[in-house]
Amino acid sequence: MSRKIGLDIGTSTLVSGIVEEDGVSVFKSQRDCFYKIIPKTAVNKNSIKMSLDKRKVSYVEDEDGAFIIVGKDALEIAVERNDTAERPMVKGVISPKDKAALPMLKFIIKSLIGEGKKGDKCFFSVPSAPIDGNFDILYHREMLSLYINQMGFEATPINEAFAVALSELVESELTGAVVTYGAGLCNFSIVHEGDPLIQFSVGRSGDYIDTSVANALDVSPSLVQVEKEAGTDLYNPKTKIIQAVSMYYRATIDYTLQTISHELNKKKKDLPMFRDPMTIVVAGGLTKAKGFVKMFDEVLKTVGFPMEVGKVLCAKDPLLAVANGALLASML
Ligand SMILES: Nc1ncnc2c1ncn2[C@@H]1O[C@H](COP(=O)(O)OP(=O)(O)OP(=O)(O)O)[C@@H](O)[C@H]1O
Ligand SMILES: [Mg+2]
Repeated sequence: MSRKIGLDIGTSTLVSGIVEEDGVSVFKSQRDCFYKIIPKTAVNKNSIKMSLDKRKVSYVEDEDGAFIIVGKDALEIAVERNDTAERPMVKGVISPKDKAALPMLKFIIKSLIGEGKKGDKCFFSVPSAPIDGNFDILYHREMLSLYINQMGFEATPINEAFAVALSELVESELTGAVVTYGAGLCNFSIVHEGDPLIQFSVGRSGDYIDTSVANALDVSPSLVQVEKEAGTDLYNPKTKIIQAVSMYYRATIDYTLQTISHELNKKKKDLPMFRDPMTIVVAGGLTKAKGFVKMFDEVLKTVGFPMEVGKVLCAKDPLLAVANGALLASML
């Protein structure tokens, strides 16, 4: 039987979804990062190798003898060394400056979905082009199509926010707006009866929070990320770091909603006329913080959003919604 896979290729996390033979969807995730350790001597090299093997870390050795640790282990080891793990992607697309980016990304994707066989399909997520940045997504989308095809799958790109609409807006007849808050980008879309009418992204999300807090408190961005993910209660911050994280959450929601409203106001004549107030679904890792929807709602009321909004809902599982939507698309 041919396999169908939904793959969310994110700046911070990759998530794959697959339907097993018993009809149950199974999701797996891997951190989209790597960390290089360059041994100083041959003895040093053997001792590093021993400790990585003992810890069951997933790594490869490059041609210069360095160890490249990938995934979740890379983030943990970087934090232990008071350092920052590297990312193959920046702001939703393949990092343009780093030569290791493409092979690393390919390696991490392969570790999640393996090789495909004839007839296997993989729908993978791509972001929308940003309205506040000067890059497009064509190179990213085409390179990933090529790689996933080379891995033996029939590759089809699907827009990240549209994938969330497929996953979360079925009860609203695939009509409403989606805002995703990932690491690199905030993606926005308005979908009307299954048709994506407006799609763009804004270049500020979780990474902006991590680096802003790191600069303000003189700590590493990886440490901020780890603490933020360990449990952020936006209206009841318990530590100095989480207090600063909460401030930058509000600044991020404010910037993204201001930018979205400004763009929609410019496009006012093209906006669809909805019969009922529009549902907005939020998804992505940042929306897992306690109090996110409350803060989003508060800010939304202040930005001159040009459409009547009904409910603001959080995706059932904010980290899996994109992969789930891509998986559903592969089965349509
Ligand atoms: N439980 C949590 N609480 C708060 N923030 C979280 C939590 N889990 C993940 N995050 C944050 O969410 C962001 C990652 O979200 P997500 O995995 O949706 O992004 P991505 O898909 O990798 O990135 P992008 O869509 O921008 O390419 C990171 O900033 C991460 O630290
Ligand atoms: Mg994402």
